Amino acid sequence: MYFGAEAYRKWADDIESGRFEDENLPLWENYGVYVCNLATNGGEPTYIFRKLADINPKYAELANIGEKIQKLLPAESPTGGRSLLWIQLDELDGGMDIGKVKMTMRNKENRSKVAAALRDYAERLDQAVDIMLEMNSANKTSMVGSHEVEAISVSAEKDSIHETNIFLWDTKGNDVIGTTALPMYGAFTSEEKLRLFGDVSGKKALEIGCGTGRSLQYIGERMASELWGLDISEKQIEKASQHLAAYGLSAKFVCSPMEENCGIPEDYFDVVYSVYGVGWTTDLDGTFRRVASYLKKDGIFIFSWSHPIHKCVASENDMLVFKKCYFDESWYSLSLDGGVLTLSDRKLSTYVNALARAGFVIEQMVEESDVQPDDNSDYAQKAKILPVTFVIKARKI
Ligand SMILES: C[S@@+](CC[C@H](N)C(=O)[O-])C[C@H]1O[C@@H](n2cnc3c(N)ncnc32)[C@H](O)[C@@H]1O
Repeated sequence: MYFGAEAYRKWADDIESGRFEDENLPLWENYGVYVCNLATNGGEPTYIFRKLADINPKYAELANIGEKIQKLLPAESPTGGRSLLWIQLDELDGGMDIGKVKMTMRNKENRSKVAAALRDYAERLDQAVDIMLEMNSANKTSMVGSHEVEAISVSAEKDSIHETNIFLWDTKGNDVIGTTALPMYGAFTSEEKLRLFGDVSGKKALEIGCGTGRSLQYIGERMASELWGLDISEKQIEKASQHLAAYGLSAKFVCSPMEENCGIPEDYFDVVYSVYGVGWTTDLDGTFRRVASYLKKDGIFIFSWSHPIHKCVASENDMLVFKKCYFDESWYSLSLDGGVLTLSDRKLSTYVNALARAGFVIEQMVEESDVQPDDNSDYAQKAKILPVTFVIKARKI
């Protein structure tokens, strides 16, 4: 079964191989119906998209998309009529006049011309699909860690989100998402400067989403009395354990989604922290309530994540362009180095309110980046004028 551009290519291959030489023309008519349905309507996207844009300004961008598509797939009129392909096929005697088609199919050179027209149209269809996909991803721009990537919307099924994400963490680890281990809280934001942890010696510490173990190492080297790491990925835990061992350190590891009851002791920890970890949760309220339960009274919770404003603004032709609605917390997927991650961008108020509901008081919040003045990379330029990472230090009351 072939569809879209692939159907045109298959038709072209059949023509060239001589499939229609022996008057196998009922099949030709089937192909023709397909062309009628799909290609003859080539001009209509402009009309439909323009109409949508007229009805609701929200769809204004669609009018441009329709025009771009019509340039690729021109037709006799903006509301339809014969498509470019249809006109070409008629001119090449490869249309719906079966008498002419018979003659054309018996001449190798002529049928190759018909096949070439079909392949050209298939190419144009592919480009039109790319334009529409681009439009979809342009609605969202997303950066995890330190780079911008394209995104597509997905439905938020907790189990499938975990499944997709575990696969990425298992196979790719942290390398695909940039700076996410202490002393860095994210790009350009360092504990060395912020000193949010204070003295951790003799303290019991738990990291949510402990990943590579590098943040655990940082806290362990500062003489914490107990190190615990929670992570959804067995592979990450394996790596973290090996990493700590290489530094003469060890931790208790728990492999579980942070959203679930996983046997971590309650009223036990002095500090729970998460560096680009908690944002992966599918249940922010539930996760913060669990974090609160692990902490002793007055225990500290420190976490960092991509700043939601950073997720809305993308660099484009040396300009920063607001690309996504700040209030949009829907789930989406990113392709990263051959893998896929699924996440949602939450507003700052969503984090703040969830902390309050879980029984925390915020002691400090950091939005500024520490960018070297001579760093002229796009990302640094952006970080100089808007927050790219946020860090919150909260206390359990
Ligand atoms: C960016 S990494 C954290 C890196 C870590 N700070 C370090 O020092 O390497 C995020 C980690 O969160 C884990 N994770 C993602 N979703 C999770 C979930 N729902 N529950 C627990 N861990 C999760 C991933 O497996 C990954 O190891």
